[in-house]
Order: sequence, then C-alpha cells, then structure tokens
Amino acid sequence: MHILVTGGCGFIGANFIQHMLHTYADTVIVNLDKLTYAGNRRNLAEVEASFLETRYFFVHGDICDQSLVTDLMHGFPFDAVVHFAAESHVDRSINDPFPFITTNVLGTQNLLEAARQAKISRFVHVSTDEVYGSLGPTGVFTEDTPLAPNSPYSASKASSDLLARAYFHTYAFPVMITRCSNNYGPYQFPEKLIPLTYLKATRNEPIPVYGDGLNVRDWIHVLDHCQGVAATLFKGQPGAVYNFGGDAERTNLEIVRTILRLTGKSEELITFVTDRPGHDLRYAMAFERSTRDLGWTPKISFDEGMEQTLHWYQDHGTWLDEVQSGAYRQFMDTWYKTRGA
Ligand code: NAD
Ligand code: DAU
Repeated sequence: MHILVTGGCGFIGANFIQHMLHTYADTVIVNLDKLTYAGNRRNLAEVEASFLETRYFFVHGDICDQSLVTDLMHGFPFDAVVHFAAESHVDRSINDPFPFITTNVLGTQNLLEAARQAKISRFVHVSTDEVYGSLGPTGVFTEDTPLAPNSPYSASKASSDLLARAYFHTYAFPVMITRCSNNYGPYQFPEKLIPLTYLKATRNEPIPVYGDGLNVRDWIHVLDHCQGVAATLFKGQPGAVYNFGGDAERTNLEIVRTILRLTGKSEELITFVTDRPGHDLRYAMAFERSTRDLGWTPKISFDEGMEQTLHWYQDHGTWLDEVQSGAYRQFMDTWYKTRGA
C-alpha cells in the first residue's frame, strides 16, 4: 500500500511511520512535513537509515501549498492519505490562533480537495477528543457526542472534522475520522505535560501545574493510537468516526506525582500557576465502536507505558536537548512568565 502521511516528523506521525514500515512489508510511505518547531527529521533517523528512497520518501513542504499537494497526489500512485499534520499545542493556540486556522482548517481543506481530485480511495483524518468539549465529573464522549470545542486549537480541529464530514456527504469521498485522547510515549515534544514535567524534574526546576491540578485527561500510549489509526486505514467504514482512548483517567496532579516518584524527585517541585484560560475539566472516551468494528482495544497499561516512556527520555537526553530550539524557548519563557511560573 502506498500511503501519503502528513506531519510524519511530529510525535504521533513519527511513531506511526515506524510502526507501519516495520509491521507491513508492502507499505511505501511518502511523508509530507513542513518541519515546524514541532517537526524533527531526526525522529525518523532509523527509518531513513533503513528505508530512505526505497520504502520511505520525505517531502519538505506545507499542506497549505496547493500546487505542491496537487502535484504530489497526482505524481505518486497513492492508495491512501493519513493526515496527522497540525498545530497541536493548546497553549500556543491561546497565544496565537492564526497558524492553527491556517494549517488545521485550510491545510486540511487543501488535502481533502487534492485527494478527491486525484481519486484517492481512503483518507484517514486524525482528530482529537478535544472537539467534544469538556465533561463534568461523570460521563464519557461517544462518537455521537455533539462537537463543542473550547480552545482555538480544538475549534480548528472540529472545523477540519466538519470539512471531512462534508466531503463524505457531498462528494462520497471515502474519509474516516479518528478521535483520540491524550497520547504519551517516545518523541513527544517537551511542551506537553508529560515530557515537560520529566524535563523540569530532572533539572530540579519548578513544575508548572495549571489551576488546582485536578483537571482530568485520559492517557493512551502512542503505539495503541497508531494501531487504531492503522486499523481505521485497513478496516474503517467511509464516513465513520472512531474514538480511541486508553481507559486511564488521571488528574494532572496524579501524572506529575507519578513522574516525580519514578524519577526519585521531590513533590516540592510542584508549583501551582495561573490556570489555562477555558481549561477543559475532564475528557473520557467510550470506544466500543472501535472495538466492535475495528477489533481495536488499547494494549499498553498506563503503569507499563509510563515506565517505558520515562526510560526512553532517560536514554534520549541528546534528543531532548536538540529539539529545544530558540523558537521553543521563546514561547515557553513568555507563556510561563505570564502564568506566574
Ligand atoms: P506534533 O505537534 O508533535 O506534530 C505535528 C507535525 O505536523 C510536525 O511534524 C509539524 O512539522 C507538522 N506540520 C505542522 N504544520 C504543518 C503544515 N502546515 N504542513 C505540513 N506539516 C506540518 O503533533 P502530534 O502530537 O504528533 O499530533 C499529530 C496529530 O494528532 C494532530 O492532528 C493532532 O491534532 C492529533 N492528536 C494528537 C493527540 C496528542 O495527544 N498529541 C491526541 C489526539 C489527536
Ligand atoms: O486530548 C487530546 C489532546 O491532548 C490533543 O488533541 C492535543 O494535541 C495535545 O496537545 C493534548 O492536549 P492537552 O492540552 O490535554 O495536553 P497538554 O499536555 O498540553 O496538557 C495536559 C494537561 O496538563 C492539561 O489539563 C493542561 C495541564 N498542564 C499542561 C502543561 C503544558 C499543566 O498543568 N501544566 C503545563 O505546564
């Protein structure tokens, strides 16, 4: 199968490409990535060493570039598109929503249209549980939960989901939408809670916890998510939405305390800072449809996955140092200063 993957140099995309090339011998992947601050070609160094220009090809470019995307879709015999590319960090979307609208909405529109024109036969649009908004202390999101996004990031993702939906209903274009809860695992960029906490803990720096730390996220290992995306690619019904979750709800304080325990650091590092504006209280996923129709369940327990992930960061100190570019530091310094960190 020939697959165009977008955003393959990011956290989930890089894990997905590794998983696909190692698991399915007949897979050929073209990775289209703009290499933003979050995209890193070194995430696929091992893939490049084994498969570059045979089963793996890299195209440095923007999903918003109409002629590039159109030429690419027509120039290669793609069976499918798997679309990960996005601006993905909620805090950055609060700071400046515009790149989120450009990439997540216009970029997705551009890909959908080019893929439709090129008659691509399967398109997986990778989305998020955040499009459903926020839960109270009880309840779960199903695929039928109305969309009610609360941040510029989730609003841009919900917009792209609606475009994907419209392409199925209007043009019978075979698009499937996946919505997943919070991923963790190797190669996650150190602006997100788990790698950021690890980084701060190992440097004995204050760990910023928003508000009272009692917001709840459902955590899933990235490999379980990748297997869900692959199952959607192979078995998903055009027009369908599939939820993926990890069955591992934790408060942010529980996450931070787990990392401090596993790294042998003191809880005195925990620093409560000004809350994220519009901070969603709780996410929880019902994924019976994915289990029934795709045969998918999460396989990696939270305890096992977290230990393995922290070991990965311990073994990849150079990677952590290298991805902290000037642009990364600039945002982090400004953002946390305004939160009183
Ligand atoms: P990430 O920020 O780590 O990576 C995004 C990748 O997209 C980077 O390689 C970046 O260079 C690339 N990119 C950004 N703008 C681009 C553009 N205009 N053209 C081409 N490439 C571009 O993100 P991630 O955490 O790996 O998330 C991947 C996808 O999964 C996103 O669509 C996100 O909404 C979704 N998702 C993420 C999570 C999570 O917990 N991280 C959960 C559910 C869904
Ligand atoms: O739920 C899926 C989403 O998960 C994805 O769609 C997003 O792309 C991804 O970034 C992630 O969004 P979150 O906002 O949930 O992830 P983040 O790691 O930024 O934050 C997790 C929780 O931790 C959230 O409640 C905010 C809190 N937090 C985060 C940071 C960065 C803190 O308390 N302190 C922090 O410094």
